[in-house]
Amino acid sequence: MQTQPEGGFTAPNPHRPAETAADFTITQAWDAYTPEEHDRWRRLFERQAEILKDRAAPEFLAGLDALAIAADGIPDFRRLNDELSRRTGWQIVAVPGLVPEAIFFDHLAHKRFPSTCFIRREDQFDYIQEPDVFHDVFGHVPLLSNPVFADYMQAYGEGGLKALRLGTLDQLARLYWYTVEFGLIQTPQGLRIYGAGIVSSEGESRFSLESAEPNRLGFDVRRLLRTRYRIDDFQETYFVIDSYRQLFDATLPDFTPHYEALKTLPELEPGTVLDSDRVFTRGTGRVKRH
Ligand SMILES: [Fe+2]
Repeated sequence: MQTQPEGGFTAPNPHRPAETAADFTITQAWDAYTPEEHDRWRRLFERQAEILKDRAAPEFLAGLDALAIAADGIPDFRRLNDELSRRTGWQIVAVPGLVPEAIFFDHLAHKRFPSTCFIRREDQFDYIQEPDVFHDVFGHVPLLSNPVFADYMQAYGEGGLKALRLGTLDQLARLYWYTVEFGLIQTPQGLRIYGAGIVSSEGESRFSLESAEPNRLGFDVRRLLRTRYRIDDFQETYFVIDSYRQLFDATLPDFTPHYEALKTLPELEPGTVLDSDRVFTRGTGRVKRH
């Protein structure tokens, strides 16, 4: 699932060549990164590592360590893939930007995570709408070293291909959004972040756990498939899983009954709280624009 609206590509960039393969893969061109780009990665990494040390899920932090994703520069996908494939059989493949949904799902279904290679410009240091290599690698790749989460991602890819055939992609996309991108997990130490969209954002790393504004509700597949999301601001609702096993087990069965049920159930606005929800915190609902 592509989760950010498409951005405009303007300047020539070795990490965004005009020619791509049929599966949209390119080479990372790691040697082409400039010292300034590696330094930008280092500063992004150090800022997030500090914020996340007591906010991110332990499995995310363990994944950073296991894959040696660190402050020393933009990772070389070849090195990263050696370690990642040993652990879970996954590979990172370089893509120039957003790719068509069918291509994206096919990569996931075959344990390939499509990652951008370009890094945001300096004037985008605090916010970039489209995914860049910091979002994709720092945000997404650490949990691909976790076997259960990695299996979930693969199953999601298979589910995406099916949703394309069924015409239910709008619903399925919400699952990716509220878990892979913006998910929280309950731990003995309290709520922690595992969603890539949060961990790669300084502001939302704090907001998602500490703000009184958003709702934090228990994960429920059908409920979540009904819930619209916002792409232009921090989330109004975060869904909390108990474990990656819960996530995998709940999403493994055929979604056809969910899709059938959704034909008669109304869609829910992002800030809605239902009587049937398991409420961790009910937000004030005064989500300001960021
Ligand atoms: Fe993402």
